[in-house]
Amino acid sequence: MHIDITTREKRLDSIVSYAPVGIVQFDPAGTIIEMNTKAHGLLQSLGCPATCPREHAFELLKTVAPAVMEKLTGALFSEGLIFKNEVHIIEYGKETGQGDRCWQISASWIDPQCIVLAFDDITDQHQQQQAMLSAISEKAIEQGKSELAADILHDIGNAVVGLGAHIGRIKRGLEDTKDNLLAGLADFLNAQQSQIATGIGEAKAAAATTMARSLADSQQELHTGIRESINGQLAILSHIQAILNIQRQYVAGKETGERLQVNLRGVIMDSLSMLAATVTKRGIVVHSKLTEESTLLRGDRTRLMQVIMNLMKNGIEAIDLAAEEKTISVSLERTATTLELEIADSGCGFDEDTAGKLFGRGFTTKSTGTGLGLTNCREIIESHNGTITLTSDGPGKGAATRIKFIL
Ligand SMILES: Nc1ncnc2c1ncn2[C@@H]1O[C@H](COP(=O)(O)OP(=O)(O)O)[C@@H](O)[C@H]1O
Ligand SMILES: [Mg+2]
Repeated sequence: MHIDITTREKRLDSIVSYAPVGIVQFDPAGTIIEMNTKAHGLLQSLGCPATCPREHAFELLKTVAPAVMEKLTGALFSEGLIFKNEVHIIEYGKETGQGDRCWQISASWIDPQCIVLAFDDITDQHQQQQAMLSAISEKAIEQGKSELAADILHDIGNAVVGLGAHIGRIKRGLEDTKDNLLAGLADFLNAQQSQIATGIGEAKAAAATTMARSLADSQQELHTGIRESINGQLAILSHIQAILNIQRQYVAGKETGERLQVNLRGVIMDSLSMLAATVTKRGIVVHSKLTEESTLLRGDRTRLMQVIMNLMKNGIEAIDLAAEEKTISVSLERTATTLELEIADSGCGFDEDTAGKLFGRGFTTKSTGTGLGLTNCREIIESHNGTITLTSDGPGKGAATRIKFIL
């Protein structure tokens, strides 16, 4: 079918006119020759009135996107394409009171008297992309941190095993030592004292016997001391290994979903010993009153430890270093059907408004807080058939977390 040239031009015109991107033609002096509907809308949103004088287009660009202006004025006709699909920040927030926008822009020469600019507002996509990128990089950093921590824990673990092997060797060496040789010599000298006396005299024979006896005794004492110390050191090492294991699982964030018998008292005591150095350094006194009755429950030891560590840390962080009273009280009680844990601190407390927000994901009042501690605690406690509350009598009056497990 033959289409005459006028019809074709008209059709092309309307394609440009209704194109979903803004298209503007300038002359090299910056006067607008033509623009389509979308361009009109976008320029208007920049504060350019519908009656925007055509000569003022470059003026406008100069204020809202100086970088684009620079490229346009510096471009020679012979270069054809000036730039393509570049993302530029359009600073029109100042005048309109809105935030800056983000435009994707292409520019090229059509003929020596005409530059065409095609552009669109991609602020939303750009923001989404930025948010996604920062989420990805945050995740990578977190992952990096936990890998680093896992490596360090692994190295410490190896060092502890090495140290244990050395101490074990000393222990075995000591077991093989004949403690009784000196004692035997002392016994022999004692039994033969009268015969020896005839050779070296009574006084010297008695002195030799006494000396041998006291040597034997002090050797025995020394060995007993070393053995006790070695046993003590081996016990400390196995405690360190247990803590390292817990930390390793903690770093790996391993939720086994496993529900094994866990002794809650043991978990609390391990947590307290892991935080012992921190509380001592801050001059905080920890009172603990843990029931002697059975504190077994079905659960995930690592997760429960994570809860207790989080709550203890919140308590520690709530206590001002300069405060007069610095205490944390931990109590564990058992009833016929429940296990009840309370961690109370003499810290800064909080008002009613804050009380309503504490468990909200991401809520934090600390400059370096994550606001995830309490959310995670609640999730873990609820998955263990328990409830958790955090209350305070008001600012400056301390706070207490209560956890109740239904057995
Ligand atoms: N023992 C406490 N005393 C006073 N405020 C507390 C206590 N525990 C938690 N909070 C408040 O609850 C907020 C959220 O705690 P949490 O979820 O553990 O996150 P983070 O410790 O990272 O801030 C804290 O920032 C703090 O304002
Ligand atoms: Mg916390």
